[in-house]
Amino acid sequence: MTMITLTGGRSFKLLLLHAFLLVMLSAHLSPALGFISGVGVGDANNIRCIEGERQALLEFKKGLVDDHGRLSSWQSSDENKNCCNWEGVRCSNLTGHVLELHLSNDGRENKPFGGMISSSLLELPYLTYLDLSFNDFNQSYMPKFIGSLSNLKHLNLAAANLSGLIPHHLQNLSHLQLLYLGGNYWSNIENLEWLSHLSSIEEFDLSDTNLSVANDWLEVVSSLPNLKNLWMESCDLPPMSLSSFSPFNDSKSFASLKSLDLSENQLVHVPKSLGNICTIRELNLGSNHLNGQLVELITNLSGCAKDSLEILYLSENQITGSLTNFAIFPSLKEIYLSVNKLNGTLPKSIGNLYKLEVLRVDSNFLEGVISESIFSNLSKLQILDLSNNSLSFEFSFDWVPPFQLNKIHLTPCNLGPRFPNWILTQRNVSFLKISDTKISDTIPAEWLADLPPTLKLLNLSNNHIYGRLPNVSPKRLNELAIDLSANSLEGPLPHFPTNLTILNLSKNQFSGSISSLCKINGQLLAYLDLSHNRLSGRLPNCFMQWPELVILNLAGNHFFGEVPSSLGLLYVLNTLSLNNNNFSGNLPSSLRNCSSLIVMDMRNNRFSRNVPAWIGERLPSLVFLSLHSNMFNGSIPLHLCWLKDLQILDLSLNDISGTIPQCLNNFTAMAQKRNYFFENFIPLSYDNFIVQEYFDSVMVELKRNEYEYHGTNLGLLKIINLSSNKLIGKLPSEIFSLLDLISLNVSRNNLIGEIPQMIGNIPSGTQIRGFNASYFIGNGALCGPPLTQKCPGEETPNRSEVTTNDNEENGDELGKWFYVGTGFGFAMGFWGVCSSLVLKRSWRLAYFLLLDNMKDWLYVTITVNIARLQRKIQRQG
Ligand SMILES: *[C@@H]1O[C@H](CO)[C@@H](O)[C@H](O)[C@H]1NC(C)=O
Ligand SMILES: *[C@@H]1O[C@H](CO)[C@@H](O)[C@H](O)[C@H]1NC(C)=O
Ligand SMILES: *[C@@H]1O[C@H](CO)[C@@H](O)[C@H](O)[C@H]1NC(C)=O
Ligand SMILES: *[C@@H]1O[C@H](CO)[C@@H](O)[C@H](O)[C@H]1NC(C)=O
Ligand SMILES: *[C@@H]1O[C@H](CO)[C@@H](O)[C@H](O)[C@H]1NC(C)=O
Ligand SMILES: *[C@@H]1O[C@H](CO)[C@@H](O)[C@H](O)[C@H]1NC(C)=O
Ligand SMILES: *[C@@H]1O[C@H](CO)[C@@H](O)[C@H](O)[C@H]1NC(C)=O
Ligand SMILES: *[C@@H]1O[C@H](CO)[C@@H](O)[C@H](O)[C@H]1NC(C)=O
Ligand SMILES: *[C@@H]1O[C@H](CO)[C@@H](O)[C@H](O)[C@H]1NC(C)=O
Ligand SMILES: *[C@@H]1O[C@H](CO)[C@@H](O)[C@H](O)[C@H]1NC(C)=O
Repeated sequence: MTMITLTGGRSFKLLLLHAFLLVMLSAHLSPALGFISGVGVGDANNIRCIEGERQALLEFKKGLVDDHGRLSSWQSSDENKNCCNWEGVRCSNLTGHVLELHLSNDGRENKPFGGMISSSLLELPYLTYLDLSFNDFNQSYMPKFIGSLSNLKHLNLAAANLSGLIPHHLQNLSHLQLLYLGGNYWSNIENLEWLSHLSSIEEFDLSDTNLSVANDWLEVVSSLPNLKNLWMESCDLPPMSLSSFSPFNDSKSFASLKSLDLSENQLVHVPKSLGNICTIRELNLGSNHLNGQLVELITNLSGCAKDSLEILYLSENQITGSLTNFAIFPSLKEIYLSVNKLNGTLPKSIGNLYKLEVLRVDSNFLEGVISESIFSNLSKLQILDLSNNSLSFEFSFDWVPPFQLNKIHLTPCNLGPRFPNWILTQRNVSFLKISDTKISDTIPAEWLADLPPTLKLLNLSNNHIYGRLPNVSPKRLNELAIDLSANSLEGPLPHFPTNLTILNLSKNQFSGSISSLCKINGQLLAYLDLSHNRLSGRLPNCFMQWPELVILNLAGNHFFGEVPSSLGLLYVLNTLSLNNNNFSGNLPSSLRNCSSLIVMDMRNNRFSRNVPAWIGERLPSLVFLSLHSNMFNGSIPLHLCWLKDLQILDLSLNDISGTIPQCLNNFTAMAQKRNYFFENFIPLSYDNFIVQEYFDSVMVELKRNEYEYHGTNLGLLKIINLSSNKLIGKLPSEIFSLLDLISLNVSRNNLIGEIPQMIGNIPSGTQIRGFNASYFIGNGALCGPPLTQKCPGEETPNRSEVTTNDNEENGDELGKWFYVGTGFGFAMGFWGVCSSLVLKRSWRLAYFLLLDNMKDWLYVTITVNIARLQRKIQRQG
């Protein structure tokens, strides 16, 4: 899998990711998938299991809590007697001794073991390989006896929810080549002296551990190789003080270290001594707090490490300065500097790194003009990510690059105005994202008709691409995500390949019917956004073909007629946005089956009849419900009160009569400071791709204005708008127990009586300040503050200033409440999601991996598989 090359040194996570993707990608989950294939077990049936070891394994199983039955093959019955055939067990094909235990929870459907690690493992004297990573040992301690498994070469306890001290007994493991301890809750990281005795160690992972308390150990540990040899033989360093190294006179350790992962550790500097690990190939210092100048940091690595270093992962730090000359690293193949604070331009010297395969310097402050000459020696380049900088490309039109890239991300570099011809030469590309690159041209039809077979994502959004869209590789069978949104494409929809995962054509000028889309075989289609075009006609009744659809946005077109009943077959749909069209009739009752709906936006249509009670009964996850500006009549069904997650309820501008139900205080989401949006919403990607589109479609209408908040924190909006209906009776005081409500608008109804005074009792500084007089006006008989109209017998209101100026209605008081920025919203979003949907830890990790390392490279996969996952959960439920 090519993904591997993306992630730099995070080897243990890599495995996870790799397996995760494999599992997720294959529709049928094979139980063997979790294990590394290719481990020779010979003809396992002929290997005899050793009885004592069999007993030891059964004893080991007893210690574990195996809630998911992963070890069901570990039995004492006759037919299962041969422990060499048990799940995760590998024996020597000569002696029958147990050599390896592959019991990671990686990439599986989340099935961690709990319990304890039994010392019966000591009775497996030939054990060389022990992998218990990503299980959940409930923050118990790592048993000391592991240090006595003296033949171990491979010990992986990453992210196993272990805590306490790392037993120094590990120092006895003199054959250990691989040690992964990252992602646990260790408490003694100040003293890692034992590490110095691990003379054979090649791969070491202590990521995600908070080494900030141990800033100096890095200095110490990395100076472990035989010091004299180190600088007299291998390294050409000026003499330096020996004093800091004196505790480690046993000098053989780290002499063979190839891969070191110290990512996510709050480290602030890269000590010079790290550059003295002469064997290092992969160094991962990503997601720390490194904050020096890049040139200084590189200098600190310029010991003998400079000759061996192939992969340097420094993403997500605060590194400043300009991109320096990496030529001091003659072996460098992969550079990751994403999300730092580099400025200046892309230096010509990069072009001398002819071994370079990965160049990721996205999300920095680079600027300037790049000419093609910089790439003329980079024939091995596979991944080029310069996105989120301010770079301009000035390439001659017929330039043929020396490389065949696999992933291209250049948003928002300036590539235009002509369609960059060199892109057409890239026939191995899988991810092509050149949105917002100032292309003002048509898309070459021959290319579009025959896209590279490897392509999974084509994103040309936010350009000025115009003309009719030619047919898009109608014959291809590989999955493909297409985002051509926010361009100037026009005319009828062309033919698309059948195996689409995402189709986003929003914000163009496409016209005509969408019936041709029915040809898309929607087993994979998760996202369909055709909003803000000039599409018209009745909707075809073919939605049953897209059972995996999560987001359907048809807003802002000229569709009319009834909504087809097949929409009701979209069981995993989260968002249904049909707003701003001319749909009529009633909401089809089949929609009651769309029980995963979170957003239902029907604003500005001509729907009529009653507000259906099934909305409350059958759509329990709704967070956003807008029926604004339709012709609904009847009364507000009490069942709406069942929507405890609802944050936005907009029934304004209809013909709804009757009283306001008292049970509205049942909207617990409006009473609590929680963000149900994010908790319910599935993150289809990190790169604002879907989240933003999604919010985009979730516009909130308050009063006459339509508010469109790009990327703002809609998640905190809590609004009830019942204005411009025919509601009668009193305003129930229960509404004011909805303490997190930002805005309540009941203007232009026939309400009577006193406005419950609880409004005024709430201390200033809370959300409720958003209530002002305009939300209550237009109800002839409504009185009391904040209205100036006094109730009979009422004193002069002495409360805060009240305005009845109608213009206030258009004010953006909503805006005032968006004090939390997008970044925070995102963070919340993902934590929210990760704690609810993805709940289980290995999934969380898998997600974070994707987010950390992959950014949006993989969103297609996630999208599709989330839909599947949901489905699975549903079936199981
Ligand atoms: C044992 O396994 C090794 C490695 O897979 C293989 O090379 C060897 O031929 C096997 N020996 C027997 C006797 O099966
Ligand atoms: C986890 O540990 C706590 C306290 O150490 C204990 O009460 C609890 O039962 C343990 N849970 C499991 C599942 O082992
Ligand atoms: C780790 O164990 C603790 C203690 O039992 C538990 O509360 C926590 O949920 C576990 N954490 C993870 C990420 O599994
Ligand atoms: C293992 O290490 C511990 C302390 O680190 C030591 O006391 C013990 O003797 C060692 N055991 C063996 C078998 O070497
Ligand atoms: C890391 O450890 C330091 C020192 O104990 C502590 O102050 C800091 O809050 C920790 N950081 C995190 C993110 O846990
Ligand atoms: C290590 O070597 C230094 C200098 O050679 C010496 O001063 C020190 O005592 C030694 N330390 C140990 C723990 O042997
Ligand atoms: C370079 O190394 C020195 C000495 O180890 C250290 O003080 C400094 O902070 C390092 N510089 C950077 C940018 O990490
Ligand atoms: C990079 O930023 C630093 C600090 O803001 C500034 O001093 C320097 O001039 C900038 N360099 C370039 C090439 O823009
Ligand atoms: C693509 O579609 C074809 C025909 O509809 C189908 O047989 C094939 O399995 C699909 N491919 C994938 C990757 O789903
Ligand atoms: C409040 O909501 C719950 C379901 O969330 C429902 O069972 C209950 O009947 C509702 N209460 C009222 C008064 O509608």
